[in-house]
Amino acid sequence: MPDAQGKVRYAVVGGGWISQGAFMPGVGQTSNSVMTALVTGDPQKADGLAAKYGLKSYRYEAFDQLLASGEIDAVYIATPNFRHREFAEPALLAGIHVLLEKPMATSEADCLAINAAARKSGAKLMIAYRLHFEPGTVELTDRARRGEIGDLRLFSSVYTQVTHPSNHRMQSGYWAGPVVDLGPYPLNAVRNLFASEPVEVHAVAVQTPGRPINTPDTVNVTLRFTEERMATFTVSYSLPASEGFQLFGTQGEIQVSPSFGLGEGVAIAYKVIIDGETETRQHPVVDQFGGETEYFSDCILKNRLPSADGEEGWRDVRVLAAIERALESGEVQRLEPLPARPSVKHDQARSLTLAKVPEFVNTEVPNG
Ligand SMILES: NC(=O)c1ccc[n+]([C@@H]2O[C@H](COP(=O)([O-])OP(=O)(O)OC[C@H]3O[C@@H](n4cnc5c(N)ncnc54)[C@H](OP(=O)(O)O)[C@@H]3O)[C@@H](O)[C@H]2O)c1
Repeated sequence: MPDAQGKVRYAVVGGGWISQGAFMPGVGQTSNSVMTALVTGDPQKADGLAAKYGLKSYRYEAFDQLLASGEIDAVYIATPNFRHREFAEPALLAGIHVLLEKPMATSEADCLAINAAARKSGAKLMIAYRLHFEPGTVELTDRARRGEIGDLRLFSSVYTQVTHPSNHRMQSGYWAGPVVDLGPYPLNAVRNLFASEPVEVHAVAVQTPGRPINTPDTVNVTLRFTEERMATFTVSYSLPASEGFQLFGTQGEIQVSPSFGLGEGVAIAYKVIIDGETETRQHPVVDQFGGETEYFSDCILKNRLPSADGEEGWRDVRVLAAIERALESGEVQRLEPLPARPSVKHDQARSLTLAKVPEFVNTEVPNG
């Protein structure tokens, strides 16, 4: 049941960088969502951060109490990846809707368990693929899928940043590292652009000397899709920030940069190049987190299934797991073909004004 104004009441689970820097300010931009609780292990956040937004705070150990409190309709889960299932599954089983950060979980088994919990209770589950609601991304995906540059054949992307050695991403192995943190952006983009799934996975990794990370820090992935389409992407935690992709069709090319980022100054922009003619499109900066939250709350209030569902989350994790096996074995991994998924739809785009981000409480920016 929403609050007295008809707004969906959220608890934030994990008060880290993305919660403080994007979700919490973004909720204030929506017309249909409100925060009522914070789940944190940090007493400073329990005081400072909860007070700033007028939230009741809970410790992780009291999560079940929160679920039974009647104070929330939904949770936004932004813990490190290895703790996603720990909070998503009980929330869904308790009938609480879940907006879950990417990657959905750190194994396919965890994804399937989360999906089973959603099916059992009927509570809604959405994976936080914020770009599915960003107007520029929705527009270019639609144009590419309608065939403006011909039959789509090749996708090529680079996404890099220098991640701080003290961040948990640097210390917790493959399922916290660059492939599963940055990789979902190009991977999810190309799966949606091609409207098909990879059937073959190749991966090569290097470890930059002197970088204190316990998994490869720079990884190149090549995917063969059905109908002889190909995608490559390179992700790194040890190279200056860069992001973008090129999509080649039989009649032309789409170049996108910035393509995956968010926040102040990040306006998703792209060029369509056909027969030497270039059309440039730049979309205004929007509050991507406000947009995705507004969309998810709409789904809850109108009882619609979100498009970025647990199946979408599992399909990405299935590929991430194959990349891990390819890196460990040095061998090509084959994946079962799967039926196409519906496209991101026009009416999913949301254009909310970007919120101002308040000062962080006890949190470091991973690539700051
Ligand atoms: N969609 C996006 O654009 C986007 C961007 C960045 C990250 N993400 C995803 O969001 C999630 C969180 O990323 P983040 O950048 O916000 O990370 P972060 O800054 O490290 O924050 C994670 C928070 O989780 C809590 N936590 C609980 N158990 C923890 C543990 N064992 N170790 C460390 N922290 C723990 C902490 O909050 P308390 O101190 O409050 O307990 C911590 O501040 C990840 O799944 C990531 O992939 C998504």
